[in-house]
Amino acid sequence: VHQWRGVIEEYRELLEIPAGVEAVTLREGGTPLVASEWLSGVTGAEVWLKVEGNNPTASFKDRGMTTAISVAKHDGAQAVVCASTGNTSASMAAYAAKAGLKPLVLVPEGKIAAGKMAQAILHGAQVIMVRGNFDACLALARQLAWDYPVELVNSVNPVRLQGQKTAAFEVVDFLGDAPDHHLLPVGNAGNIAAYWLGYTEYQRLGRSTRLPQMRGFQAEGASPLVTGEPFPDPETKATAIRVGNPASWKLAEAAVHESEGRFAAVTDERILAAQRELASRDGVFVEPASAAGVAGVLQDVAAGVSYAGTRMVVTVTGHGLKDTVTALEGMGPVVDTVVDADVRAAAAAAGLA
Ligand code: F0G
Repeated sequence: VHQWRGVIEEYRELLEIPAGVEAVTLREGGTPLVASEWLSGVTGAEVWLKVEGNNPTASFKDRGMTTAISVAKHDGAQAVVCASTGNTSASMAAYAAKAGLKPLVLVPEGKIAAGKMAQAILHGAQVIMVRGNFDACLALARQLAWDYPVELVNSVNPVRLQGQKTAAFEVVDFLGDAPDHHLLPVGNAGNIAAYWLGYTEYQRLGRSTRLPQMRGFQAEGASPLVTGEPFPDPETKATAIRVGNPASWKLAEAAVHESEGRFAAVTDERILAAQRELASRDGVFVEPASAAGVAGVLQDVAAGVSYAGTRMVVTVTGHGLKDTVTALEGMGPVVDTVVDADVRAAAAAAGLA
C-alpha cells in the first residue's frame, strides 16, 4: 500500500532546497480536490475546492513548514521564530517539535483563535503576545532573527514558498492541466505567490498547457493589495488574514499581473455567510479567512462576472474547528435548544410532531 510521503519526498526534484536535506514531515500535502456541486450550480463552471484544512495541523502552512523546518535543521538551527495570526505558529510549533527545535512565536494580543493558540502551546512553543498587530509581530520576528541565534520561518524565508508551491503541482496532477481560474484568500500574500510559482514551473516543464488567472481576495478591512496602500490598523473577523502590509506584496502583485487576474475585497458579512453556506451546502467546514475565496466567487457572480463554462479551483486554506467561537457567533437559537430526555419533547423541538 502506498502512503503519501509528504511534499518533500513527493516533489523533491522540483524543490529548491539543498541536496540531501532530511525531510521533517508529518505527511502534509496530498489534500483532496472536492467537487462543489453548489458552486458549480451558482457559476455554471466546474468548481473544485482544494481543501487545505486536511493538512496535519489543519492549514496549508504545513506545506511550507516541512521545507522551512527541514532546511533550518539541516543548517544547524537550534531555535525557530515566526510572527503569526495563528496558523503559521501552530504549524511551526508542530514541525519544530518533530525536529527537536525550540519554537518561539509572536502573535498579536487577543487576536488569535483559541484552537490555534492551543495547538502552539501543546506543541511546546513559547508564545509571546505582542501589543500590536501581525505586521508589528513580523517586524519584531525579523529583528530577533537578525540579532539572536534563532531562524526566521515566516514566508519571507523563500524556502517556505518552495513547499507551498506543491499545492499547484497537486492541482495539475489531479486535474490533468491547470484550471482557468484559481481563487484564494490573501493575507501576508505568500500563498498566492507560491501557487503562481508552482503553476509557472509546471507549465515550463510541459506538465500543463496553460496558466490560470489568479484571483486573490482580501477582507475589506485589511485589503492593502486592493487599495494599493498599507493598512496601519487592519481589522476583520477573519483574523487569519488581518494583515495590513503583506510581506510578499511585490510577488503577489506580479502573480496577479502576469496571470491577468486581480485582487478584490470582500466584507466580513460576505465572508461569514460564505463560511456557513460552504459548511451547510458542501459539508466543508473552514475558518472565516478560508472562506474569502468562496465569498469572492459569490460576490463576482452577483456583480455579473461570468465564470460559465470554465474550470475553477478555490483554495480553502484552513479548518473550521480552529475558530468555533466566530463560527457560532450570532447563531444563538440554533444552539440553545434544550429539552428533557423525552421522545415527545425532542420530536416537538425538532418540528417532527
Ligand atoms: N488563510 C488562512 C487560514 C491563513 O492562516 C492565512 C495566513 C491566509 C489564508 C493567507 O495566506 O498570508 O500566504 O496570503 N496566515 C498567516 C499566519 C498570516 O500567520 O498564519 P497568505
